[in-house]
Amino acid sequence: MISLSPTLKARLATPLEIGGVRVNSRVLQSPLSGVTDLVFRRLVRRYAPTSMTYTEMVQASRLRYVRELPKIMEVSPDEKPISIQLFDCRPDFLAEAARMAEEEGADTVDINMGCPVNKITKKGGGSKLLREPETAEAIVRAVANAVSVPVTVKTRIGWDENEINILEFARRMEDAGAQMITIHGRTRKQGYTGQANWQWIGEVKKALTIPVIANGDIVSVESAVLCLEQTGADGVMCSRGTLGYPFLVGEIDYFLKNGEKKQPPTLVERLECAKEHLQMLWEYKGARGVQQARKHMTWYIKGFPGANELRDKLARVASVEEGCELIDGAIAYRGRL
Ligand SMILES: Cc1cc2nc3c(=O)[nH]c(=O)nc-3n(C[C@H](O)[C@H](O)[C@H](O)COP(=O)(O)O)c2cc1C
Repeated sequence: MISLSPTLKARLATPLEIGGVRVNSRVLQSPLSGVTDLVFRRLVRRYAPTSMTYTEMVQASRLRYVRELPKIMEVSPDEKPISIQLFDCRPDFLAEAARMAEEEGADTVDINMGCPVNKITKKGGGSKLLREPETAEAIVRAVANAVSVPVTVKTRIGWDENEINILEFARRMEDAGAQMITIHGRTRKQGYTGQANWQWIGEVKKALTIPVIANGDIVSVESAVLCLEQTGADGVMCSRGTLGYPFLVGEIDYFLKNGEKKQPPTLVERLECAKEHLQMLWEYKGARGVQQARKHMTWYIKGFPGANELRDKLARVASVEEGCELIDGAIAYRGRL
């Protein structure tokens, strides 16, 4: 059975201070492209009301040419604390986009310096900035000058196993004015494979004064506690563990605050949540929302009896009614077990 050591409990008892922003939770919901829209964040926040959530990343240079804010940058006035994440390689574009993010209600502006996708690194953004620390510094400076909310950075430990430069890089980000750094313990080359290396996160924590958030393989209360103990990090950020499971951030937060586990949702509650997610996406985005809900529903049913067959059907769902009917069928099936 997992327990919370008194030392760890005491260390995490105070709010997370990000520049002037106080956050009453040490567990954060990561930005996930195609996932962490307003609807998903609303579900996460229901179980983790004080946790910081992030928008999906928004390309700064694109914002120059749009008249209307893209939906992925939309923040609801009741969402707090919220960070809007931007990516690009041009400090001036990022500064301009950061102003728009601040106006939209962002409590912090986060710069993505970790995305491994070729399309983005080829243009100098995401994890490519690990290889361009001068540009990364210039970005942080420009954004910090442009807005009054704190600027934070999310990055990886390095480009590949021969180029792990996170210690030096993180110091430079702090010196440039970053108020928090989140480190995904993988290299760019690893993408999303292999185990996250938390050791480097611990090294960075020792070297910096701003908060350091650990990311990578935080999938349960157990992994969160282990990571916090091993790294000394100021908090943990959950990512893939929340796909089809928006309860995770709340479960970890509850444990860190109370030293005991919250009752996990039953299978039926998880399926009810899938239905609600589908309905909310439809209301928010219409037909495109239903399309996007397909992947969410397949994640929700992972591990359920009969999931394989159901997954194929859910992946083609064309309406809320159809999706709910399929899930209700699964709930009825569970009832017979
Ligand atoms: C589908 C998907 C979308 C992602 N989108 C973003 C993003 O928009 N911004 C970002 O900083 N990281 C993004 N990431 C990376 C995650 O936030 C996180 O750093 C990574 O998945 C490692 O954590 P994990 O091992 O717990 O999944 C994404 C990852 C996935 C799987």
